Amino acid sequence: MRMVDLIEKKRDGHVLTKEEIHFIIEGYTNKIIPDYQMSSMLMAIYFNGMNDLEATELTLAMLNSGETINLDVIEGIKVDKHSTGGVGDKTTLVLGPLVASCNAKVAKLSGRGLGHTGGTLDKLESIPGLSIDIEIEDFINQVNDIGIAVAGQTANLTPADKLLYALRDVTGTVPSIPLIASSIMSKKLASGSDVIVLDVKIGEGAFMKTLEDAKALSHLMVKIGTNVGKKVVAFITDMGEPLGYAIGNKLEVVEAINSLKGEGPSDLHKLVVEISAYMVYKANITKTLEEAKLLVEEKITNKEAYEKQMEFIKRQGGVLPDLEDFINVKEIIEVKAQESGYVKQIHALQIGLAAMKLGAGRATKEDIIDPDVGILLNKKVGDQVEKGETLAYLYNNLENIDSIIKETLESFVITKEVVEKKNIIFDIIT
Ligand code: URA
Repeated sequence: MRMVDLIEKKRDGHVLTKEEIHFIIEGYTNKIIPDYQMSSMLMAIYFNGMNDLEATELTLAMLNSGETINLDVIEGIKVDKHSTGGVGDKTTLVLGPLVASCNAKVAKLSGRGLGHTGGTLDKLESIPGLSIDIEIEDFINQVNDIGIAVAGQTANLTPADKLLYALRDVTGTVPSIPLIASSIMSKKLASGSDVIVLDVKIGEGAFMKTLEDAKALSHLMVKIGTNVGKKVVAFITDMGEPLGYAIGNKLEVVEAINSLKGEGPSDLHKLVVEISAYMVYKANITKTLEEAKLLVEEKITNKEAYEKQMEFIKRQGGVLPDLEDFINVKEIIEVKAQESGYVKQIHALQIGLAAMKLGAGRATKEDIIDPDVGILLNKKVGDQVEKGETLAYLYNNLENIDSIIKETLESFVITKEVVEKKNIIFDIIT
């Protein structure tokens, strides 16, 4: 087989076979196929797409390029959730303990944040003592004992995806639906769970900008998962404004804890309950989805989910002080409305970047984050606001942040007309 023939085949809009796709991925991972040929193939895929069987084979080829985690020794059905990334997205911190309290098994490998989006590991590590460096044996024991473990990735999972993603990044081929779907699904399949719930965010703070693209990506990921015998559900959700009120690591931990006490923001609560219900239902814990919803609500009301969250934090070494003493910053600056009206929009990308500049996120992988800083919204889309009222609080440890204050203020769009609150869930693809 010659790579040039396969590039021409895809360039001319034909379908690649299983053998051809595996030849490409093995060849590229083993450095037999050079970057210039792979770049050309990626561009051919970008323009001509892939059908779902090709995308499935691409996923499997990337999956087979490295180690996989075998979770068979964990009793019960293992559930996982993946978000395509958003601003203020602390759902894992809430729904992990919640579904574990319903007896589903959560063996989760998470990532760090980059740019305007945060990462679950950074949020967890903001809790003093909490470690995400867990050996695989301890990880499995922990899931068997308490139903949940969240760790950083130590095994060499999907090296082909890492190589391909780096190449896509510099060749203008990131926004290709089959390439994104196979990238995400190869990593999810490598982590070994039986049920995978995907949260595909749309909006300017997200990877997918339109509902149409988000639907196409979701359908393809569900198809890839079902083609290989997994239960996959994709939620398409709003990232037109940050999720909840908190953006920044400790601020988000506090919001996640309050959510499991039943005192969280309504958008976060709704999203968590809906996604958790699917995880519980697909794990065969209840007979119907309705029963699953009732069960997760009950676990919040009776505080079992909150207790599970505390058990999980403690088991991973976390020592949580009183929440009033948890966050320590030099100052909290109020960003005030310049006019009265209704909040029409909070630009998620812009406010996410403002939080990053305060030190809550990383501009480059090497940056060190400040766990205490961030932005706490005081208003959400649809809220009425008076001139001079606080729109957001900046938790700050830096000198001179005038430009960040300005960017935060400009993230808010205020209009005179009444604004309806949006439903956070746009669609669910099963
Ligand atoms: N997230 C991924 O993991 N891969 C992509 O290609 C895009 C988003």
